[in-house]
Amino acid sequence: MSYPYQITSLAQYEAEYKRSVNDPAAFWAGIAGHFSWRNQWNEVLNWNFTEPKIEWFKGGKLNITENCLDRYLESHGDQPALIWEPNDPEEHHRVLTYRNLYDKVCQFAHVLRNNGVKKGDRVCIYMGMIPELPIAILACARLGAIHSVVFGGFSAQSIADRLVDANAEFIVTCDGAYRGQKDIPLKSVIDDALIACRFVKRVIVCTRTRTAVSMIKGRDVWWEDEIKKVETLGLKDFPAEEMDAEDPLFILYTSGSTGKPKGVVHTIAGYMLFTNYTFVNVFQYKPGEIHFCTADIGWITGHSYILYGPLSAGGTSLMFEGIPTWPDAGRFWDIVDKFKVNILYTAPTAIRSLMGFGEAPLKDKDLGSLRILGTVGEPINEEAWHWYDEHIGKRRCPIVDTWWQTETSGVLISNLAGITPAKPSWATLPLPGIQPVLVDEKGEEITEASAEHGGLLSGNLCLKFPWPGIIRTTYGDHERCRNAYFATYPGLYFTGDGALKDQNGFYRITGRVDDVLNVSGHRIGTAEVENAINMHAGVIESAVVGYPHDIKGQGIYAYIIHDVHHGDPEHTRKDILATVTRIIGAIAKPDKIQFVKGLPKTRSGKIMRRILRKIAEGETSNLGDTSTLLDPGVVEEIKEGKL
Ligand code: PRX
Repeated sequence: MSYPYQITSLAQYEAEYKRSVNDPAAFWAGIAGHFSWRNQWNEVLNWNFTEPKIEWFKGGKLNITENCLDRYLESHGDQPALIWEPNDPEEHHRVLTYRNLYDKVCQFAHVLRNNGVKKGDRVCIYMGMIPELPIAILACARLGAIHSVVFGGFSAQSIADRLVDANAEFIVTCDGAYRGQKDIPLKSVIDDALIACRFVKRVIVCTRTRTAVSMIKGRDVWWEDEIKKVETLGLKDFPAEEMDAEDPLFILYTSGSTGKPKGVVHTIAGYMLFTNYTFVNVFQYKPGEIHFCTADIGWITGHSYILYGPLSAGGTSLMFEGIPTWPDAGRFWDIVDKFKVNILYTAPTAIRSLMGFGEAPLKDKDLGSLRILGTVGEPINEEAWHWYDEHIGKRRCPIVDTWWQTETSGVLISNLAGITPAKPSWATLPLPGIQPVLVDEKGEEITEASAEHGGLLSGNLCLKFPWPGIIRTTYGDHERCRNAYFATYPGLYFTGDGALKDQNGFYRITGRVDDVLNVSGHRIGTAEVENAINMHAGVIESAVVGYPHDIKGQGIYAYIIHDVHHGDPEHTRKDILATVTRIIGAIAKPDKIQFVKGLPKTRSGKIMRRILRKIAEGETSNLGDTSTLLDPGVVEEIKEGKL
């Protein structure tokens, strides 16, 4: 097996890029031809960015699991599809061949159907990183249900918000999850979430940690019992539901600059094509190789590059249950050595954190199988890039710096490993089909180099043409999708990121230009954190900004006006952290809290975050124009509090 659409030279990249821009419909239709369809589409592309309305391959009929599983059964049913490495290195790993995975997905699709799940229903999946997680996801897709995976670190309140938003009546979870030395009581968190969600009809609970759980009669069932029922009935193959190319495949919630997280919706064919195409080209995957993406499947990176990208390409994907630093900081390197991993894809945060342990954890680890390295989720600083290159890739593995977002399905800007040039801390060139533009505040395309940025173009990063994996809507609220992505600059998709562009057309992503933080590669909205902090009875008002953090990339800095009658500030501080953990999850806990008497506001009442950001960064002298502030004295007080 090979991939006819795999780009193998720089000249070919240039030619393919041109072709994709000159005739996008013909370009993507050519790629779609390599997949398994029940019925040909009516029209390749129908779009406008005003509503927005984006349809790729509408009328085409398929099921994504037939593309990920069935079509590989005959040619390489015995080849590993998933390799699972548990949290505890003493526990045995598991290997699921394409045949095994197919059987298990069919079995669980029967379980879902027996429990009342129908095509179009939303199923919330809240599980740890065990093979049953991809099995549950693929079973939903086989049956035509829409999966909504919620990362295992989110709180009961966050789950409840998502259940309500998606009106999800079904949940698949585990008793608990292992993460390093911790056991996370997933089922108990679900129980808390469901106090306010009486509409949930069924919770299917898979056993992992054997933590005691309470089962609610008529609502909760055990995964293992349900499988036994299917076995007793002799149910095996589950015919895949015929789906339209534009039927939703999943919802994945992500943070924006305002209010609650948005349910990003991706549709079947476009998502499949784009994750497959980018997987094959960015990582230059070769059949038989082992691809190790260290992300959690609760995030888009796991959806696209642990599951759908590799499986739709008939590849072998390694999934890992634990954390990089337990039992020690050599965990990744042990896994690479044990399974002879060829491609390693991880986040700059993980690299920076492991770098901090020096070279000792690398001793006696054979990393010779590695061929390609990748990073994702946040800008990578040059120091971390060079460490990765020197100590992990031994200067012989191309590093791909892949820029993309939950909303884009897959990689939009990145070098293609070993094919197009790399440049440390630059994502470099757009993939075929991707048409970026840099715009100024007014939405005018930037053509003049900026002196401030050393003669580079600098602006807000937008895309001017759709690709198959672009977001279709935000679940239940299309207007929100329009406002968040398509209204700032009419006619363009706005990414929320700022970028630089050099003379070669290479892009460097400089970070978010909106009120979204990127903490350890995870997106968190400042408004969301503020809302959670403000729930605390001792808080009058708060303002949250990001600041540079050596390991996490960005840390969370909260300025809080505290009710002095509420008691001991130290106690309040701890309590606020607990509140944020309860409302959102531990990932949103502020790293620093500063109690202040007031916040810098304009006369119209808007908080001037620019000033707070500078103070959080340690800049106290050059704060820019503060004359429009209602009370400039507040700034002095905050500065003094900081010193
Ligand atoms: O700011 C960009 C940053 O992560 C944001 C997207 O976050 P999320 O939707 O959670 O998806 C993360 C995994 C794709 C982007 O808007 N980002 C992602 N990759 C990079 C990056 N920033 C710089 N360089 C990257 N390679």
